[in-house]
Amino acid sequence: MSKRYAIILAAGQGTRMKSKLYKVLHPVLGKPMVEHVLEQVKAIGLEEIVTIVGFGSDQVKEHLGEESKFVLQAEQLGTGHAVMQAESLLKDKEGTTIVVCGDTPLITKETFQKLFDHHEKAGSKATILTAKAPNPTGYGRVIRNAQNEVERIVEQKDASPEELLVDEINTGTYCFDNQALFEALQEVSNDNAQGEYYLPDVIEILKNKSEKVSAFLTPNFDETLGVNDRVALAQAEKTMKLRINEYHMRNGVSIIDPDNTYIQPDVVIEQDVVIYPGSMISGTSVIKERAIIGPNSEITNCEIGEETIVKQSVATNSKIGNRVNIGPFAHIRPEANIGDEAKIGNFVEIKKAELGHGSKVSHLSYIGDAQVGSNVNVGCGTITVNYDGKNKYLTTIEDDAFIGCNSNLIAPVTIGKGSYVAAGSTITKDVPSEALSVARARQSNKEGYATRIKNRQKDK
Ligand code: UD1
Ligand code: CA
Repeated sequence: MSKRYAIILAAGQGTRMKSKLYKVLHPVLGKPMVEHVLEQVKAIGLEEIVTIVGFGSDQVKEHLGEESKFVLQAEQLGTGHAVMQAESLLKDKEGTTIVVCGDTPLITKETFQKLFDHHEKAGSKATILTAKAPNPTGYGRVIRNAQNEVERIVEQKDASPEELLVDEINTGTYCFDNQALFEALQEVSNDNAQGEYYLPDVIEILKNKSEKVSAFLTPNFDETLGVNDRVALAQAEKTMKLRINEYHMRNGVSIIDPDNTYIQPDVVIEQDVVIYPGSMISGTSVIKERAIIGPNSEITNCEIGEETIVKQSVATNSKIGNRVNIGPFAHIRPEANIGDEAKIGNFVEIKKAELGHGSKVSHLSYIGDAQVGSNVNVGCGTITVNYDGKNKYLTTIEDDAFIGCNSNLIAPVTIGKGSYVAAGSTITKDVPSEALSVARARQSNKEGYATRIKNRQKDK
């Protein structure tokens, strides 16, 4: 096996996307297209990856980070011109270079591997990854001779009517012998319909030099989609979504409606989890065994414990323990840490708060900047008053405390262990443990007063 290198083409603006965001940064299931490409290419083990950047180069570099070297293509004069920019880095390195477009996010590492193997086994100077497309419109067509050998690739805009009927397409992925590639690129011209230096022209140039050129036809056309506009972007999203969902289902996760469930690529889901329709699980979330998610839950960068239920709720950047019951209609904001067997009910918002084992906040409450112990009961309508308009303060509620309904806990404040807060209290001072605190106006009843008012109104 010779040394392997990669070039990722990512300099184009992507005019057809009609977007301020550069094409290769458009996300597919939350991850920029070019990042999907880099991850899959990287997985086959390479000496060096060079990404050609141009439009949005700073952002592309930021996304790909240390994994790649970068070369700037200052002017986008075509895919051949783009590859030429890597000449000084790769020309003198003996080996094989795979060239991949940053806008084909669905090609898998297995396919890249097969392409490499095919190329090396055949001893070719160039091997194109091709596919049979049900509708080849927009793609370069693979033109073969009478012996069925690849002769050249013709772009849609340069093709004759007969050539347009060819359904074998260039996926934009190739393996090249390094030296042959950079020599042939010297001869590529821009004499074509788009006035660009086409990389695919290298095929015909090598063929004319009697070098061996071949094609590896992948049966997986759905992997080879090139995303040039938003319609293709939605197709890519759909294919990626079903691929990820299938992976989880094969691993023992029940997904009730895979068409309507969105799981990002880096999410980890354990066995016997059930996911109901309308759920989105994103970022680096981890869902532990037998948890039940949805319907309609949105979980981002959370750890969800075993047998926990998250129904019709939103949770972000938080850790939720085992056998917790969340929702319907709860909002778990960043830095919540919910203990095992806790309960967070409807219209409850939790932010930057720790909730101990078995504590309950069942209805209509806001718990923010708080440290809540175990077995605490927070009554309906309780609010931690954490913000004075300038600073945020901590509310501490110790184990076994009972907070009556509609209480305001004005932070900084501590509610002692085992204490009671009477319903409707506005607590401004610490409550000692085991105390009952009542902090509300006393009720006074004026007998017959309502009748007097009504009579007065009648007289007017
Ligand atoms: C290209 C191929 C076509 C193939 C299709 C597969 C050429 C001339 N055509 O067409 O045969 O069927 O991909 O999807 O190669 N780029 C640069 N610098 C440039 C131009 C493009 O870096 O100067 C990058 C783009 O960012 C993109 C990739 O190269 O990631 C492909 O360019 P694009 O313009 O999308 O080519 P297609 O017209 O799709
Ligand atoms: Ca393209």
